[in-house]
Amino acid sequence: MKIQIINGPNLNLLGVREPDVYGSVSFAEYFTQLQEIFPDVELEYFQSNIEGEIINKIQEAGFGCDGIVLNAAGYTHTSVAIRDAIKAVPAPVVEVHVSNVFAREEFRHRSMISAVCRGVIIGFGLDSYRLAIEALAGKNKKS
Ligand code: DQA
Repeated sequence: MKIQIINGPNLNLLGVREPDVYGSVSFAEYFTQLQEIFPDVELEYFQSNIEGEIINKIQEAGFGCDGIVLNAAGYTHTSVAIRDAIKAVPAPVVEVHVSNVFAREEFRHRSMISAVCRGVIIGFGLDSYRLAIEALAGKNKKS
């Protein structure tokens, strides 16, 4: 089974950026842990601060992998184009957020992508990614 993780803007700064909100562990460090937790899952990681590159990766991975774990970060709240890309591919996409966006500013309460994702996991810190992989590696498929 192959799962693509895609992180959006500013998530390259995980571990450094607002540690009170996002924690102090870098994604590179956490990704190593994920590979140990899921030895039978082929995990790929991609991060970009650029909307078009995220869309390109959704299109590329979305026809060739078994699932996508997507933290679209700030684009979650604005991007019709990322929503359209998710709809365009057959792979199930799980939306994740590190922080509980509903406990934060109101503009973070709206997601442009939730309705076209297979499911949503919010607010469990980096563990949100593990939970999303658990969901995809189970019997959950886009239907
Ligand atoms: C985030 C929440 C977004 O509102 C924010 O813009 C991010 C990170 C999260 O993982 O908690 O960059 O997606």
